[in-house]
Amino acid sequence: MRSLVGYAGMKILIAGAGSIGQRHARNLRTIGAGTLAVFEPDAAKRTTISQELSCDSYNNFDEALRSMKPDVVFVCSPTKFHVAQALAAAKAGAHLFIEKPLNHTMDGVDALSKEIEKNHLICMVGCNMRFHHGPRTVKKLLVQGEIGPVKNADITVVFNFTGRADFEGKLEKYSKSYNADPSQGGATRECVHEIDLALWYSGPATLKSATKEMAGRIGLPAIEGASNLMLQHENGVVSNVHLSIMEPVYRRGCTIQGEKGSIEWSFGGDVIVRDTSGAITASYPQPQSYEVNQMYIDEILYFFDCMKKNVTPQGNLDDATRALAVALETIERAEERATVIA
Ligand SMILES: NC(=O)c1ccc[n+]([C@@H]2O[C@H](COP(=O)([O-])OP(=O)(O)OC[C@H]3O[C@@H](n4cnc5c(N)ncnc54)[C@H](O)[C@@H]3O)[C@@H](O)[C@H]2O)c1
Repeated sequence: MRSLVGYAGMKILIAGAGSIGQRHARNLRTIGAGTLAVFEPDAAKRTTISQELSCDSYNNFDEALRSMKPDVVFVCSPTKFHVAQALAAAKAGAHLFIEKPLNHTMDGVDALSKEIEKNHLICMVGCNMRFHHGPRTVKKLLVQGEIGPVKNADITVVFNFTGRADFEGKLEKYSKSYNADPSQGGATRECVHEIDLALWYSGPATLKSATKEMAGRIGLPAIEGASNLMLQHENGVVSNVHLSIMEPVYRRGCTIQGEKGSIEWSFGGDVIVRDTSGAITASYPQPQSYEVNQMYIDEILYFFDCMKKNVTPQGNLDDATRALAVALETIERAEERATVIA
C-alpha cells in the first residue's frame, strides 16, 4: 500500500468523529499520516476514538485550532457545520478536506472561497465515488472517446434508508440522524455523489426538470426520500439522475449512451462497453480483492499529493459548489411528482 512518506510531520485535525470521521482517521493512521487529533462533542465517541488511535482529542473546535495549529483539517461533522468550520479552519491557515455535501445551503461558500484563495490553501470536497473502480473506469473510457460523442447518461443510486452500514437500514437510527433533518438532510443532499458524477462525466449543466417524492412512506414526510433530475449539459449531453433512500435493495450504477456504443456499470460489477449492435466489445472487471474502503484511501492519497504539488484537486470547492447548487435547486424547485422547471 502507498503511504504518506514525507507527511509524518503534518498535524491533522478531524472535526467530527462519527461514521466517516472515524473512517478517515483510521485510514490516515493506516497510511502513516502525521500527528492526528479529533474534535468530537460526544464524550463517549471522543474517548473511544482517541484511545484507539492514541491521539489528542478536543471538545471545542476553536480551542482545537488554537492549541493544535493543524496543517490540515478534515471536516466530517454533520452537513450544516461544514462551511462554517471550514472557514474557521481556513482562517487558521489549514488546508481543507471537507466531507460531502459541501454544506446544507450556499451561505458562507463565497467567503470560504476567498479565504482559501487568500491563504493559498488546498481544498478538496469528499468525492470518493470518483476514486471507485467503476466511475473511475467510466470516466477514463469517456475521456478516451470509447463510445464517441455522448448523447445521454442514466445515473442511479438507491439506498435502503442510507448507505451507512452502521444503520443497517434501521429507520429509528436514521430518523435521529442529521439526514432526517429537512434543513440539512434528505435524499438529494445525501446522494450528491451521483450529481457530482454526472457533472464530472459530462461537464457543467443546468437543471431542466426535477421531481421528488417526500419520504412519508418510510415515516419521514419532512424530507424528500427520492428525486429525479434531468440535467442539460453545455456540451449537449442529457443526464437523468435518480436518487433514493427508500428502496429495499441497494443499487448503484450508470448507463452512458454514445454515438458509437454504450458504457454500463453497476456497483460491484464490471464496467462493460457495447457497440451499437449491443455486442460487448470490452469489459473491465473490478479486481477480485477490491475493498470499498480503497476509494477512501485513494482520495486522501490524492489530496495529499495535491498539497505536495500545490495543485488544485479534482473535487475542489468549485466542483462541489456546482453539485450543491444543483442539489439545492432540486430540493427548492422540484415539486412532488412530475413537475417541470421551465
Ligand atoms: N463521502 C462519504 O462516503 C460519506 C459517508 C458518510 C457521511 N458523509 C458525510 O459526512 C458527514 C458526517 O456524516 P456521518 O455519517 O459521519 O455522521 P455521524 O452522525 O456518524 O457523525 C457525525 C459526528 O459529528 C459529531 N458532531 C455533532 N455536532 C458536531 C459539531 N458541531 N462539530 C463537529 N462534530 C459534530 C457527532 O457527535 C458525530 O459523532 C455528513 O455531512 C455526511 O454527508 C460522507
